[in-house]
Amino acid sequence: MPRFSAFFVVGIFIYGDDMQAVSFKNRILTYIDQRFLPAKVVIRECRTIQHGYNAIKELRVRGAPLLGIFACYTVCAGFNSFPKEKKRFLSHLSNAIGYLKSARPTAVNLAWALDRLYAAALSVEQKSIEEIKKVCIDESIAIHEEDNLLCKRIAENGARLIPDNSRILTHCNTGFLATGGGGTALGVIYKAHADNKNIMVYIDETRPLLQGARLTAWELTQRNVKSCLITDNMAGLLMKDKTIDLVIVGADRIALNGDTANKTGTYGLSVLAHYHRIPFYVAAPFSTFDPELVTGEEIPIEERNPDEVKKVLLKLPVAPLQVNAYNPAFDVTPGELITAFITDRGIFKPPYNFLKNKIG
Ligand code: MRU
Repeated sequence: MPRFSAFFVVGIFIYGDDMQAVSFKNRILTYIDQRFLPAKVVIRECRTIQHGYNAIKELRVRGAPLLGIFACYTVCAGFNSFPKEKKRFLSHLSNAIGYLKSARPTAVNLAWALDRLYAAALSVEQKSIEEIKKVCIDESIAIHEEDNLLCKRIAENGARLIPDNSRILTHCNTGFLATGGGGTALGVIYKAHADNKNIMVYIDETRPLLQGARLTAWELTQRNVKSCLITDNMAGLLMKDKTIDLVIVGADRIALNGDTANKTGTYGLSVLAHYHRIPFYVAAPFSTFDPELVTGEEIPIEERNPDEVKKVLLKLPVAPLQVNAYNPAFDVTPGELITAFITDRGIFKPPYNFLKNKIG
């Protein structure tokens, strides 16, 4: 059971389209602690860099774009404990950013957003500490608002690819709990639903941390989108039975040749979809493309605590505790298995060369 810090509030949320996974108002950072969903909506406050780091590491806040947004706000929320002398303030800022980046290595949005925050701070380093803080806060809010807009564009671009009466398979969670807006892959699904298309969403439960079962199923039921939860190992059966028309997933990092890191299990789905000739789409904002990486082989894959595999949600043991377990949090899908990328800048089909296409 997660331990509470001194700063927690349990809130009862009325769900609305504007529900946010993180909020930064009057310099106070609050977030939904996603470990408790769907049982209850627990809202906590983050006041320190260490708290923000732990929140990221423990997946209280997760999803590639949201990680970047939350990390930037964490820096701003932590300012109260920063040194009061300029040189020491700037060095503390640089260390805090480096520390937060190290919390999770795969989602490039985390480093991308923090680098952007640091560049904004350095652009005014001659000014007072108060002014540097203000620029950092404005930049963090801008990154958040921008992501909201990118989600809307992805949704609009992607919904065109969803025929009426589609049965869609998705993996992990890519909705408002993972972004600064309505979502990437789930955003496309919400838009198709809002356009009155008759859709049915099959949700992979997404072992071991069950982001599909706990978070995507919760989001979709809140929004009255027809859905059906399956275990990860049922996807092949459903594709064979012609129950799935298309697959849409999100991404944590995309290399220039289209190779894509996403939640473990995505690669298997792409192979199955290829075999069964089912379109396999990846929805992501430009901030998930890594202009530094030529292929997916260079993507660092986070390896998590094996206990996440051996105990359901780190509680109920489902294997002998002495057994070895392997827990890579992400896998890499080769670009050649991806039918198209749905981005805020349009739809990209093979051959992928994102340097040429000016993504990044
Ligand atoms: O480990 P998580 O829950 O952070 O993994 C999240 C995913 O793999 C998502 O598919 C990805 O970040 C895209 S979120 C829009």
